[in-house]
Amino acid sequence: MKLKNDLFLRACRKEKTERTPIWMMRQAGRFLPEYRAVREKADFLTMCKTPELAAKVTIQPVDIIGVDAAIIFSDILVIPEAMGMTLEMREKEGPILHNPIRDYQSANSLKKVKVNRDLKFVLDAIKLTKQELNNRVPLIGFSGSPWTLLTYMVEGRGSKNYDVVKKLIYSNPKLAHKILDKIAVAVSDYLSAQIDAGVDAVQIFDTWGGILAPAEFLEFSLQYVEKVIANITKKNEPVIFFAKGVHYKLKKISKCGADVLGVDWTMDLGKVKDLIGDKVALQGNLDPTVLLSSKKVIKQKAIEVLHSYGKGSGHIFNLGHGILPNSNPENAKYLVNIVKKESKVFHQKNSKKHW
Ligand code: CP3
Repeated sequence: MKLKNDLFLRACRKEKTERTPIWMMRQAGRFLPEYRAVREKADFLTMCKTPELAAKVTIQPVDIIGVDAAIIFSDILVIPEAMGMTLEMREKEGPILHNPIRDYQSANSLKKVKVNRDLKFVLDAIKLTKQELNNRVPLIGFSGSPWTLLTYMVEGRGSKNYDVVKKLIYSNPKLAHKILDKIAVAVSDYLSAQIDAGVDAVQIFDTWGGILAPAEFLEFSLQYVEKVIANITKKNEPVIFFAKGVHYKLKKISKCGADVLGVDWTMDLGKVKDLIGDKVALQGNLDPTVLLSSKKVIKQKAIEVLHSYGKGSGHIFNLGHGILPNSNPENAKYLVNIVKKESKVFHQKNSKKHW
């Protein structure tokens, strides 16, 4: 079945579009009162594991905010759980993985994930969401990168300095690679299964790539992202790689096999484009805190991002990281409308408007 709005997919492939598509990382979440209403009746993991609820909150930002793509509601930490770890989502504290992996014994105890069995709830949620979306917009699947998953599996929770996982890579790199190898197999199987279940594109989140020094980023993060992408079985579904804080390795990252590079807000899209050439599309990169300001500032900063990428195809508008839970939905809606309106000029031939 043909999508009614395929702007996002065309932009991922650097094909011509009449305007720039927009979606927002973490758009299926707490900033929406409609999400909080569902969440009041069910805890987070129950929502992830109940396809009807996951589909419902996945579609909310499409209906309410008007974004050009949906992202399946789930979490990156369902993989460590499927590998045998115990996941707990604590109110206010965030996710906890009990008995973190720090030695060979616990690493050996990690199970090989059978996606169709262990993560069937995600695949069912994808199938149901695709049905209910009725081809209005594409659906994005996702996973954490092996490195970002390793940080949670070794630290056991979010961390300030990531000293436990960083100590591991410096003091026992062999063990770190052993665990990363196992995770990478699970991630590529998982993304392949999501594509099989119907997602139109996949995004790999490397939220914690930027805590590594450049050489370690290549060895412990990018190398595994490359393996994952090479092993995904797909037709022509685009792969997006979003790594935060890795400006020092952009050129290398642009060759990892991803079709689209997610860019955080610390970089200038135009400069990134100049540096890496025009082989991959770019996604980003408005500072999420701009949404906490006024409509006037939102408009000005959104236009700056459009201007920074400049004319032509291959830009997917997004935030430079996830939307903050204290963002006003009216402001998010305003941003979507501004991008839809103001981006047209960047896709017209011989436009007279001069920037
Ligand atoms: O983008 C979307 O809207 C889809 C859903 C999605 C969630 N988590 C839902 C969620 C996605 C893509 C994620 C990815 C994720 N999860 C990442 C990578 C992306 C990023 O933002 O860096 C990471 C690091 C996690 C781990 C995680 N999950 C943390 C650190 C937390 C707690 C902090 C927080 O943001 O609340 C979660 C919980 C979580 N995942 C919530 C949501 C909507 C909030 C849970 C709630 O409703 O109580």
